[in-house]
Amino acid sequence: MTAKAEYKVAVLGAAGGIGQSLSLLLKMNPLISDLALYDIANTPGVAADLSHTNTTCSVKGYAGEEQLADALKGCDLVIIPAGVPRKPGMTRDDLFSINAGIVKNLCEACAKNCPKAILNIISNPVNSTVPIASEVYKKAGVYDPKKIFGVTTLDVVRSNTFISEAKGLDVNDVDVPVVGGHAGITILPLLSQTYPSTKFTAEELEALTVRIQNAGTEVVEAKAGAGSATLSMAYAAARMAEACLRGLSGEAEVYECSYVASSVTDLPYFATKVKLGPNGAEEVLPVGDITDYEKGWLEKLIPELKASIDKGIEFANKD
Ligand code: NAI
Repeated sequence: MTAKAEYKVAVLGAAGGIGQSLSLLLKMNPLISDLALYDIANTPGVAADLSHTNTTCSVKGYAGEEQLADALKGCDLVIIPAGVPRKPGMTRDDLFSINAGIVKNLCEACAKNCPKAILNIISNPVNSTVPIASEVYKKAGVYDPKKIFGVTTLDVVRSNTFISEAKGLDVNDVDVPVVGGHAGITILPLLSQTYPSTKFTAEELEALTVRIQNAGTEVVEAKAGAGSATLSMAYAAARMAEACLRGLSGEAEVYECSYVASSVTDLPYFATKVKLGPNGAEEVLPVGDITDYEKGWLEKLIPELKASIDKGIEFANKD
């Protein structure tokens, strides 16, 4: 099936490190007819630059809050990488004080101008920003848990890369589900469910699990103050966006791991594999069979993830 270009997608934070690379990848996506690039500044330049690429998608820049509503109207998918990234020594939670307010304001505008659009939230801490977005939508009376996704695709992309390298597998064949959340030990790659079926020694399991959990910090340290992952994140976000659009277009059997409203554990939000369809998250899949090693990590991550969720809910409802 060749779906036609019929979707409007907005990127909020489009002039940033992730936003610019992501916008380029989206401009190349044949499912997208209109790309709206919003940021507090600099989007006219990014949009003019991108508009010279000879792909079918048309692109328009929107700068400043007074243009936000127009950027959002008619959107099918809104992707949010707005906010500050980490510097060496910072955790994702250290970004909360700035990014929580940014995400809250942007989600208020989404709830008002495109309440039925799918949201892909990239801004960290994702473990808290997804609960914030959900509370905003609840307050506005437009909440649909199937539409709000925390983007954890980079954890899957990293896992697939590291495991194919470690095991000499073709990276195009490898698929590792990653569950939990998106920060430090809340990132739980299920190496026992690696496709194709792969055996790991106890040392390999520990080294790979810990590397995947700290992979974002690896990039933050290598960039030495110049930010966090942008190129790999843009790649991962483009993959997630494409999966959402393929689901919307009615394609069957589209799955990605994502941090969503979930009843898979006792926590209200949790990342597992999600089936994407015309309504967004059609089905949130269970964690499945896991090993005692993975159970140990799962027990450890739950209290940390719960604290981040509670922090987001409290922030969104504080006035
Ligand atoms: P950046 O600083 O390069 O870009 C952020 C952009 O957001 C800037 O252009 C800025 O003007 C814009 N912005 C700030 N306030 C805004 C507002 N109110 N409305 C619209 N735009 C606004 O940062 P970068 O590297 O692009 O990272 C963005 C976010 O993505 C950070 O929070 C970072 O932690 C997160 N991130 C998430 C990952 C994930 O796996 N989910 C991976 C890597 C980064």
